[in-house]
Amino acid sequence: MSDILRIENVTKRFGRLAAVDGVSFGVPEGSCFGLLGPNGAGKTTTIEIMEGISSPTGGRVLFRDEPIDRRFKAKVGIQFQSTALPEFITVKETLELFSSFYDRPRPMDEVVELCSLADILGRDNRKLSGGQRQRMLLALAIIPMPELVFLDEPTTGLDPQSRRNFWDLIARIKAERTTVVLTTHYMDEAQLLCDRIAIMDRGRILDIDSPDALLEKHFKGVLIRLPYDGCCSDALSGLEGLVMRDDSIELQTEALDRSLKELLAAKVDLTGLSIHKPNLEDLFIKLTGNALRS
Ligand SMILES: Nc1ncnc2c1ncn2[C@@H]1O[C@H](COP(=O)(O)OP(=O)(O)OP(=O)(O)O)[C@@H](O)[C@H]1O
Ligand SMILES: [Mg+2]
Repeated sequence: MSDILRIENVTKRFGRLAAVDGVSFGVPEGSCFGLLGPNGAGKTTTIEIMEGISSPTGGRVLFRDEPIDRRFKAKVGIQFQSTALPEFITVKETLELFSSFYDRPRPMDEVVELCSLADILGRDNRKLSGGQRQRMLLALAIIPMPELVFLDEPTTGLDPQSRRNFWDLIARIKAERTTVVLTTHYMDEAQLLCDRIAIMDRGRILDIDSPDALLEKHFKGVLIRLPYDGCCSDALSGLEGLVMRDDSIELQTEALDRSLKELLAAKVDLTGLSIHKPNLEDLFIKLTGNALRS
């Protein structure tokens, strides 16, 4: 799969802060690419440079191997992290208004069907719930029939059902071979939707690959997690694969029996112990040292 978009050695400085600090990666055509990272990591700054709406301090953005130019804007759909919708007009009027900006907009009934907007077409934009608003914003992003859609935290604040509906919608857009670039703080979402993930912090990419390849690379075996109050630290300190956190300990092991015996021998209270297969949330914490925003 060739890259539809590449960024090469991109930096963005705000005064002394390097919000994006020498970032390079490619987005394979037809894939869903996820940019993950804690608050302030540089995701929005990076995605805005990829969208061509913010210019980098250094480096370049290539669309199909060519530097992006004015024609690029007609090929992308953008859902911003926060956007104002026109007030005092309805959903239908807003869709019509945005469609009128393009030579060949996606047919209205298709947009309405894809984004499940039929029930709220007559509603004033000011009266939309959070989930309805997100669906509406995605509708606006796909009206131009983009080759590439950018979604900055599209599901933040949605209830679990609305998030699931949104995932279905993304799957349908992807099935049309539209490339999707998204940022998210939800690791289940990234695992489910993304073919490739970049984990970023402090303006740099910490690692990048498919979710499964990343997990395979960074974890072996299972994770034992145990609430921890600070006791027996001497006895614990010799345990291989042990990581101390503020209020818990974590043990990565390929020999579960042995590790459990070692914990028992260290006389730690095993109440609350859990064992699980490492997931993207564990990886996120391992790489960034940050717990996720819930
Ligand atoms: N216009 C600006 N002027 C100055 N600093 C900025 C500007 N935009 C972003 N920053 C800073 O750049 C850093 C990266 O911000 P960015 O919005 O890219 O983070 P993010 O990863 O999208 O975070 P979040 O998860 O909270 O959305 C932050 O420290 C932020 O304060
Ligand atoms: Mg952001």
